[in-house]
Amino acid sequence: MRSVLTQGHQSHSPNRPLKKLVINGGYPLKGSVKISGAKNAALPMMTACILSNHNITLNNVPDLADVRTMRALLDSMGISTSKTLDGSLQLNGGQIKSKYASYDLVKTMRASIMVLGPLLAKHGKAKVSLPGGCAIGARPVDLHIEGLKKLGANIEIKDGYILASAEQLKGSEYHFPIKSVTGTANILMAATLAEGETKILNAACEPEINNLGGLLNLMGAKIKGLGSETITVEGVDNLYEAEIDIIPDRIEAVTMIIAGIITKGEITIENIDPSHIKQPIELIRQCGARFEMFKDALLVSSPDKIKPMNFETQPYPGIPTDIQAQLMALNAIAEGHSKISETIFENRFMHALELKRMGANISIAGNKAEVRGVSKLNPAPVMATDLRASAALILAALSASGETIIDRIYHLDRGYENIEEKLLNIGAKVQRID
Ligand code: UD1
Repeated sequence: MRSVLTQGHQSHSPNRPLKKLVINGGYPLKGSVKISGAKNAALPMMTACILSNHNITLNNVPDLADVRTMRALLDSMGISTSKTLDGSLQLNGGQIKSKYASYDLVKTMRASIMVLGPLLAKHGKAKVSLPGGCAIGARPVDLHIEGLKKLGANIEIKDGYILASAEQLKGSEYHFPIKSVTGTANILMAATLAEGETKILNAACEPEINNLGGLLNLMGAKIKGLGSETITVEGVDNLYEAEIDIIPDRIEAVTMIIAGIITKGEITIENIDPSHIKQPIELIRQCGARFEMFKDALLVSSPDKIKPMNFETQPYPGIPTDIQAQLMALNAIAEGHSKISETIFENRFMHALELKRMGANISIAGNKAEVRGVSKLNPAPVMATDLRASAALILAALSASGETIIDRIYHLDRGYENIEEKLLNIGAKVQRID
């Protein structure tokens, strides 16, 4: 059964998402697209409510599957989560009953691990499932555990669960051997209520961590050094109420920039912070695209010929691993040969196999990919393997003349709010089918 989408209107039940996306590609995208709030900022900021007995109000929270999963997890603990009349999300951890995160919820979304630090800091105990492997690699949580142990937590792993307890966390120094975004979030939140000073070294510098730290400071935490590799936290006894805006999603912004270029279109990206995507913009300029910058918007125009871009993924401010797949789709139709190194995750090239089904010429060796640009991609049935892989396939399908059907599109719904409506509004021909 095919359900046709018209602009701004979804004709199927939101409770039963349709499984596939049909894209009729080959049309230049033109117009404006408004970027939603950042998923990777919203998720840790939602767990921060555990640290307080007061209302935490988050504005600009995106309505997407991962946010709903996090709400379900917090609800299951007895935390109240409700939408205000103006669409903000209000959370209150005052009535928490359970300090337990089940396997079922954590396995659907690894970010659930970010309840661990706040539960320990505020309630002195937590039982949180180990996330296990995921489509893009092993992704252990050993550093979260090591860091919390440094703050004095007793932690044992039993039957697939992390069992953690602490009378009172004590400030300490923890040096991340490799940068971890959610690891930094967990230790940062735990340290806010620890006794004394905590120093987090080699901390993640992502804007989403700054957004979280900004919220915690508004709640009464004493955090310094946000945005640098050394974050210092002076523990306090209590945290209070606060309200804050979630920053715009820089990954969605770059995905939309590439959608404009790959279709030879011209689009304005609204509600973004261009300072969060400096390096991606510099890289994308190399393909010949032109940018005009405004305070919170960006106009992107495509070149006649797309030139190849060599890059390696890096922690912020480098090229994010979360846009590697989308950039690979763009390189697939560039005039020439490009090299991509994935340095963050060991198994994040699954989209390459699907892009090859559409005619891309890509060879993979370990964490390196070589892309030999082809003049055009062809439509083909393909399958999304993870969130950003599905974004890459959408981009490829938008550029390929004809009908591409992308299966397992539920991955996309985890991280992109209303993407079909947004694409329809700038001229894409997209519909969901069962
Ligand atoms: C976060 C983002 C994700 C992004 C990733 C890298 C959220 C909710 N998710 O994921 O979208 O792709 O950052 O920018 O913000 N590692 C360990 N042990 C640990 C923790 C991490 O070995 O305890 C490794 C990971 O396997 C990976 C690297 O460290 O190789 C970086 O991962 P990390 O930054 O922790 O990713 P996430 O926080 O899970």
